[in-house]
Amino acid sequence: MSDVHDTGAWFADQAFWRDFYPHLFSAERAAQAARIVERSPLFRFPAGARVLDLCCGPGLFTVPLARAGHAVTGVDLSAPLLERARRGSREAGVGVRLVEADMLAFAEPEAFDAVVNMFTSFGYLDRHEDNVQVLRNAHTSLVPGGTLLVDVVGKEVLARRDERVSLSELEGKVLVQRDTVFDDWSRLRSDWYSIEGTRAATASMTIHLYSAAELRDMLCGAGFTEVRFHGDYEGGPYDHRAERLIAVATKGGDVRGR
Ligand SMILES: C[S@@+](CC[C@H](N)C(=O)[O-])C[C@H]1O[C@@H](n2cnc3c(N)ncnc32)[C@H](O)[C@@H]1O
Repeated sequence: MSDVHDTGAWFADQAFWRDFYPHLFSAERAAQAARIVERSPLFRFPAGARVLDLCCGPGLFTVPLARAGHAVTGVDLSAPLLERARRGSREAGVGVRLVEADMLAFAEPEAFDAVVNMFTSFGYLDRHEDNVQVLRNAHTSLVPGGTLLVDVVGKEVLARRDERVSLSELEGKVLVQRDTVFDDWSRLRSDWYSIEGTRAATASMTIHLYSAAELRDMLCGAGFTEVRFHGDYEGGPYDHRAERLIAVATKGGDVRGR
């Protein structure tokens, strides 16, 4: 039995993740995730660290993290995506712990050295306080001195892009994505249309958009004492060239055994 409730929200609709799977979790994406885990200075966790991959999906980061020797727990709302992660870990010959749970509820006090939340898996919950609660849960789950990594599309990064409609084709599927900013730049709606032969699917996802300053306020409100930002996975600055908004937040307090 899982503690997942049916919220009726777009992210709880399994048809969305199934219909848009090839675009969201392409082989290219999987290779990028593996490269990030292998080379990114942001992923240099202590050997054998206990890492929580929050909103792990099909395990694009979970499996490489386990391959790197970490003790990984992947948490996700979607049973079919967790099944893919399970299959991926089996094929890679690594053990991972997978938990079907809602990020709004999941917290295991001081059970992890690091928490990662990758490829825009934050800001999904409708109420602002609920997204802060997700950060509070991550804070609870970390040991003192532990770090949380949140990787999203920053408001500043999006504002620089002039392209609002994109077209791509993958594995015979054509995808059109149209992005609309609304609520005075506080939210982004992405409308997706996928066409494969005579079959068409459509879906919309709505997420909160954050600037670095807004995300810093939320992280500090959730208890984090030290927050820094990067604009790419190489650890570059969050400036006018940034491609992503990546927050690295540290839980303060007594650091034991380090
Ligand atoms: C954009 S995908 C990213 C997945 C993964 N982090 C990656 O990098 O490939 C977002 C993931 O968040 C999960 N998700 C959405 N809402 C959630 C919630 N409330 N609690 C837990 N997982 C959630 C989805 O099922 C999906 O797997």
